[in-house]
Amino acid sequence: MLCPKSTIPKKIETDSYLLCTGETDLERLTILNDLYNPSSLDFLKIESGMKILTIGCGVGLLEIELAKKVGAKGEITATDISSLQLAIALENKEKASVPNLTFKELDVAQLNLISEQFDRVHCRFVLSHMPWESIKKLLPLLMSKLTSGGALVLEEVSNMDSLGCEPFSEAYELWKTFVHMQFDVQGSDHSPGRRLYEYLQEQGYDFVYQTHQPKLKQKREKKILSLGIRSLAPGFIEKKRASSEQILDAMEQLKILEEDPNIIPVYTEVSQFFIKRSKG
Ligand SMILES: C[S@@+](CC[C@H](N)C(=O)[O-])C[C@H]1O[C@@H](n2cnc3c(N)ncnc32)[C@H](O)[C@@H]1O
Repeated sequence: MLCPKSTIPKKIETDSYLLCTGETDLERLTILNDLYNPSSLDFLKIESGMKILTIGCGVGLLEIELAKKVGAKGEITATDISSLQLAIALENKEKASVPNLTFKELDVAQLNLISEQFDRVHCRFVLSHMPWESIKKLLPLLMSKLTSGGALVLEEVSNMDSLGCEPFSEAYELWKTFVHMQFDVQGSDHSPGRRLYEYLQEQGYDFVYQTHQPKLKQKREKKILSLGIRSLAPGFIEKKRASSEQILDAMEQLKILEEDPNIIPVYTEVSQFFIKRSKG
């Protein structure tokens, strides 16, 4: 049986970002934070008292952890282009009681409106949604927001080749087709992490690199697959890349995958870059 029509949300908020924002994407982003936050927090090398700027903070769950880690003497400034994401982030902040976390509605391209400098600038799964030319242009702007000795931490999709499922699953292959289509519609590179690695090396940046790829073992974790398609649905329908029937069918197939404890898919491999700004 197909899901009821109401499972397809109505609209996307911005043209440049294809996924839904606000309440519609909350559950997906919550699962995403559960899957990636431990590795991000470890990789960021946070110390008490640090000042941190985050770009495209979404619903602010990582930022709450960062605010706790830097303690009362530290400060987190979290930015996002979407007022809907920020409204939820603010609610999450209030529940967590972290006064040292503030939010600003800002497109990453307008970063110069922030005059301060930070010990860490962090950006996760934001640049991946942009064309490569935009990423290249943003790098010096992001670096310019660092204090001497600070670091820019980028965590972006490695590539699509690393997506796989054990055992083979038609439903997972269908999900992969939608992910490829997302990157095509966005006009973004299918291997942003790999491309960033080559570019940073070529340009002589001083950086540490590692990857992290979660396995989706629990039913709740696997739900991120169908929630992703649901979040992309309005954009795909608007741009005539898929019909609501195709979307509902894919979500239904993924629900069967979720229920089967013997199917273990992997989720997006993230390329993690710790790019140092030299002292002095
Ligand atoms: C996939 S979500 C990731 C959220 C968060 N970084 C995380 O890992 O949980 C991408 C976020 O980037 C934001 N975003 C998209 N384009 C942006 C832009 N040009 N400037 C700032 N934020 C942007 C979206 O609104 C969304 O909240």
